[in-house]
Amino acid sequence: MWFKTKKTSPKKGGAKAAVPKHIGIIMDGNGRWAQKRGLPRTAGHKKGADTLERIIEYCDKIGVKAVTAYAFSTENWSRPKEEVDAIMDMLYNYLLQADKKFGGRNIRFRVIGDLSRFDDKFFGAIRHAEEITAGNDGIIFNIALNYGGRREIAQAASRAARDAAEGRISPEKIDEDYLAKYMYLSDCPSVDLIIRPSGEYRLSNFLLWEAAYAELWFSDTLWPDFSERDLDRAVEDFAARNRRFGGI
Ligand code: IPE
Ligand code: IPE
Ligand code: MG
Repeated sequence: MWFKTKKTSPKKGGAKAAVPKHIGIIMDGNGRWAQKRGLPRTAGHKKGADTLERIIEYCDKIGVKAVTAYAFSTENWSRPKEEVDAIMDMLYNYLLQADKKFGGRNIRFRVIGDLSRFDDKFFGAIRHAEEITAGNDGIIFNIALNYGGRREIAQAASRAARDAAEGRISPEKIDEDYLAKYMYLSDCPSVDLIIRPSGEYRLSNFLLWEAAYAELWFSDTLWPDFSERDLDRAVEDFAARNRRFGGI
């Protein structure tokens, strides 16, 4: 049903070069979407998952090379147990459908985050979904699970410290490039656009390292209502930005 597109090229037209290569999405507002309709918050999470499928398919169509979607943060465990359990069940069921969802599609699916928290069954489902798409060369679709930007940086620092302790590098040689290769998205194009819907203007611990020079785009739309037109607007705004990277 989704990821119909095999090999796509960016939309025809002038803005070709300005399509972001890698979009990070903070999928926020699921709970409020449900509450506004008198539904349980979990109904919002379900609808939000459908929105993600649509948006990934659309990103592929317009030539985006990678999308990283924030599904569960290192802080989200502080929610009521019933909500956490419902989200984890949903994610697990999503992973179990990987063969059906990704089979025959040119998409590379990955999960990023601190995966040590997940049991063998859950971890196995993650690895299976990743493995069946690993040989593809189409759009990269990362889901951030038990993800925290600070956790990611701390883990990279810890690995660099181990390298130093075991004599593979001297501490003074540990620089930005060295740490960068331990970041979860080191083999993806740089994140150049971060989208946050739902009227909140913060990163909530998402892609702190990668966001250094990403363009930020906010909208009041709640994630379950986020449409292809909203994405078009984000991409158009991105194309009109003047990215200086510290230059003039
Ligand atoms: C985002 O939607 C999904 C997760 C954080 C898991 P929320 O559940 O945060 O929705 P709001 O912000 O309460 O509306
Ligand atoms: C960010 O949303 C996390 C995800 C979308 C997975 P939150 O709803 O957890 O963020 P805060 O609490 O409003 O900052
Ligand atoms: Mg929220």
